[in-house]
Amino acid sequence: MKEIVINTTVKVCSVDELPVADREVVDAARAATANSYAVYSNFSVGAAVRLAGGTIVCGTNQENAAYPSGLCAERTTLFWANSQYPTQAVEMLAIAARTGQGELAKPIPPCGACRQVILETEKRFNKAIKIILYGSKECYVIEDGVKALLPLSFDAGFLE
Ligand code: THU
Repeated sequence: MKEIVINTTVKVCSVDELPVADREVVDAARAATANSYAVYSNFSVGAAVRLAGGTIVCGTNQENAAYPSGLCAERTTLFWANSQYPTQAVEMLAIAARTGQGELAKPIPPCGACRQVILETEKRFNKAIKIILYGSKECYVIEDGVKALLPLSFDAGFLE
């Protein structure tokens, strides 16, 4: 039997070690957690993207009494950014979260559904998105797009 080996490289650093431009997006995601509507989980997620034109757009998780009707911060952000700026590629995405105890020490990873939407955004603009997962203790930096987080992914190519 043959094997397919899938390699993923994730860089680990403290928030202070990030380049200033990336730090700005991470700080926007951190600040956005204050606008989360997380009345059921008390898990407040903030996301921020930097667009090709330099604009930073933020979003948060939005929950609902009918639980599945809510939406994660990453998708809220990407859908809002792509609705407002449909011609501008998404260059970078940062994600942060906090609970009643404060910011998460460990980097927060995007859920599977959000990874799929990040993939579609990359395909739409034909550009890999740099992803930074913030944790107060350490951050994960994924330089070359969501494929590191979503190997063997399904995309429009299979519909042809
Ligand atoms: N959540 C996000 O916003 N992003 C993720 O990647 C993981 C989970 C939200 C959904 C829900 O409002 C809360 O966190 C708990 O799952």
